[in-house]
Amino acid sequence: MSTYYLTTPIFYVNGSPHIGHAYTAVAADVIARFRRLQGVDTYFLSGTDEHGQKVEKAAAEAGLAPRAFTDAVSGQFRAMLAMLDVSNDDFIRTTEPRHKAGATALWQKLAASGDIYPGHYEGWYAVRDEDFYTEADLTTLADGTRLAPTGAPVEWVREPNYLFRLSAYADRLLAHYEAHPEFVGPAGKRNEMLSFIRGGLRDLSVSRSSFRWGIPVPGDPDQVMYVWLDALANYITALGYPDQTGPLWRFWPADLHLVGKDIQRFHAIYWPAFLMAAGLPVPRRIFAHGWWTRDGAKMSKSLGNVVDPFDLVTKYGVDATRFFLLREVPFGNDGDFSHRALVGRLNTDLANGIGNLAQRTLSLVAKNCEGRLPDAGPRQPADTALLELADALPTVLAGAFERQALHEALDEVWRLVRAADSYIDQMAPWSLRRTDVARMGHVLRVLAEAIRVAAVVLQPFMPASMGRLLDQLGVSADARDLAALQAPLPDGIVLPAPQGVFPRWVEDAGASR
Ligand code: MSP
Repeated sequence: MSTYYLTTPIFYVNGSPHIGHAYTAVAADVIARFRRLQGVDTYFLSGTDEHGQKVEKAAAEAGLAPRAFTDAVSGQFRAMLAMLDVSNDDFIRTTEPRHKAGATALWQKLAASGDIYPGHYEGWYAVRDEDFYTEADLTTLADGTRLAPTGAPVEWVREPNYLFRLSAYADRLLAHYEAHPEFVGPAGKRNEMLSFIRGGLRDLSVSRSSFRWGIPVPGDPDQVMYVWLDALANYITALGYPDQTGPLWRFWPADLHLVGKDIQRFHAIYWPAFLMAAGLPVPRRIFAHGWWTRDGAKMSKSLGNVVDPFDLVTKYGVDATRFFLLREVPFGNDGDFSHRALVGRLNTDLANGIGNLAQRTLSLVAKNCEGRLPDAGPRQPADTALLELADALPTVLAGAFERQALHEALDEVWRLVRAADSYIDQMAPWSLRRTDVARMGHVLRVLAEAIRVAAVVLQPFMPASMGRLLDQLGVSADARDLAALQAPLPDGIVLPAPQGVFPRWVEDAGASR
């Protein structure tokens, strides 16, 4: 059986979860759920990144010991995942003994191969990004403040520490990019990574000695590991590294690291170099999604305009939130969050789209067919056209998922929804009731089959609501994967009374039920 291992980035616990974190997590969840629907043996990892100066500083500002602080914030991320219906198989914390042991073993391996050596670092560092910068990267404000390209303030760091021989891996990385054009996506990001490598790789400082909140460097109690080396290791420590004989190791190398565009370089350059140095296979693909702004502005704590995922779910519901995040913006591009845009999607695509289609069809079945699913009849060309569109959907979606084109997958489903809408209008089963009852039944059956396909393939995006819709279509819980679509719905089954799946949003009243 084929395997599929995918990961979210592990979240920094310096502050509460926001929409950006929810986005990465929901997108990864949709991909994991689609693989499971395909019958693939899937492993899906998320977790929290708890060490480093940024987190130590946030704990101090909160007046808490780092451990107590990270326990609390890590709990918030776990709660966010549960609230969003994210189906991760494991949640790793970098403060756990299993992770510390694995990261220590990785360090020892790199040291043993001669790829980590003692030296010192002198240069600019941005705590907010946990990243090093050169003079040429910086801009200087009128008051003399120096800023990284990300807008993060930088400080001058000068300390003895350990370096990783990144420079020695440039050629191997380039060869890998060459041999595996799919290694980094989207394509624009791949080019960016390639020019970074071609611009010359300098050895990377992989330890810090000016603070304590980190994993101690083996054999040197004055140093802690650089937080990115510590953090990246989570992808293998969660599978049991250094033990390569355990039950989870079969998932390595990862099939997909899903990341935001800001952290692509760590994943697409440093991480594969660390793995090559450790003699391990590198991940198959690293895909970067874009960033969300709010009402056109960058979100930040200081502007007070951060979108809180807990608020979104309370207000709009889990599935509308999940759907909006993936429908609104081509995956890989930046997007803008606004209440208007979300309500537009909720009403147009969900309430008036698939929700209304299902409600119209199922209430006609309830009223005119004694609540029983009508038998399939002789097919007319319009029936065949609609069913062909539906039957092709799983394969079309599989192709889109292969490229993480989640928006394309949704576009394709909505092509079917629109086609089914035109079909029901043209066939007018409500009039057939008076003229040709048998044909009315056949038309409703075609619609039920088409809606079933849409609901099955939409489960990864909106698990709970599509589950309810499949209940109403009489699809048993064990017949909801892609393979089950090969068989038609059973004739004559009694369907439960139809109930609207997506309430329309009415301004001021919220969602009307
Ligand atoms: N701890 C690192 C990742 C280590 S992985 C070995 C980190 N954490 S983070 O909490 O800052 O970010 C987690 C994810 O959220 C990243 O993929 C990041 O791109 C994403 N987002 C954070 N803000 C975002 C937006 N405003 N919009 C979209 N995604 C954003 O980086």
